[in-house]
Amino acid sequence: MPSAGPASAPPVRRNSASRGAAETLHSATVVLYRFAKPLLFRLDAEQAHDLGKQLLRASAWGPARHWRRINRPPAPLGQTLLGLKFASPIGLAAGFDKDGEVISALPSLGFGFAEVGTVTPRPQEGNPRPRLFRHRSERSLQNRLGFNNQGMDALRRRLEDLGSFPFPIGVNIGKNKNTAEDQAIDDYRQLLRAFGDLADYLVINVSSPNTPGLRDLQSEAFLRPLLHEAREITEQPVLVKIAPDMEPQQAVDLCAMVVEAGAAGIVGTNTTSRLDRVAEPIPGGGGLSGRVLTEASFEIFQAIARELFGKALLISVGGIDSASEIYRRLRAGASLVQIYTALVYGGPTLLGELHRGLVELLEEDGFENLGEAIGADWR
Ligand code: FNR
Repeated sequence: MPSAGPASAPPVRRNSASRGAAETLHSATVVLYRFAKPLLFRLDAEQAHDLGKQLLRASAWGPARHWRRINRPPAPLGQTLLGLKFASPIGLAAGFDKDGEVISALPSLGFGFAEVGTVTPRPQEGNPRPRLFRHRSERSLQNRLGFNNQGMDALRRRLEDLGSFPFPIGVNIGKNKNTAEDQAIDDYRQLLRAFGDLADYLVINVSSPNTPGLRDLQSEAFLRPLLHEAREITEQPVLVKIAPDMEPQQAVDLCAMVVEAGAAGIVGTNTTSRLDRVAEPIPGGGGLSGRVLTEASFEIFQAIARELFGKALLISVGGIDSASEIYRRLRAGASLVQIYTALVYGGPTLLGELHRGLVELLEEDGFENLGEAIGADWR
């Protein structure tokens, strides 16, 4: 397993004055979001997402600066993995910031890392709108965006302009829609070259449901030679992101193969294409994320972790929206987790709440830091 050196700092105890101020700020933000959410949710889901990103980007906007205080991860949640410092095990999942436009604002939300992308070699529009839908009562989203992004040159420039990153940044890479399947390896090759010296880690995405034929690349015939080449192109860790729509044993075999072929880890899982998991799927296809994905994603993750915990870096994602769910994934072997949909429903104070809940769960089990909890189910 890539060296994991969890910080062993004692739990943070703030004095009551600063705790009081933080609580007031937290309550004010919760109330603010309670008013803003119905307005945002009245907009088309993608418009609301774009507006949310614009607000985040407006760095002069006061509240974002204060959120940093209420969302800041406590010291026991810090760890070092792959030689990188993660202040929190909670990262932003791929797809939220496809073009790396809001990276600087993300620490204010409390994230410990972010995965930008999916980026493709050439810019592409994605599918026709509307292509993002809420299933509110199920706290889920259905998307068929189709890798809308500005392409690798734009993302590369943006990452270069950032200079030093506020936290570890992964780049999630995928093929263009109009690249034929037998040419797909060339797209990934270009992307590995473009980001191999820039990203803290890379993720080969062969699991989004909205690019026809992409999931067929979840095969030994495609991934083994690609991972072999990746080792020659970049020294950075390369992970593979998998879909939830397969039998657990099939996922275990796939993941064991990619790790054996040189992948540093697994990101599991992407959205599910089983639309019958919501009561009223929107016709036209797509992938579901959020609460309807929680159990399917956990089941696959647990099976993979049983086989690979201690041998590869495991990042769990899919329907995570509470501290107890994060804790379940950590105990099952995830060193890191990612969220997307929960942020849409939970708002800007979510990570502070998750961090506080996690610290309580660690304390209940008598663990002093995160490292002691990770993989505890297998010890
Ligand atoms: C995604 N996801 C995603 N994943 C990926 O690898 N590349 C991508 O471009 C996207 N794009 C994307 C857009 C939207 C609108 C959503 C909701 C999701 C999948 C995402 O990273 C994650 O794997 C799933 O959403 C499951 O996590 P949550 O949302 O249940 O926390």
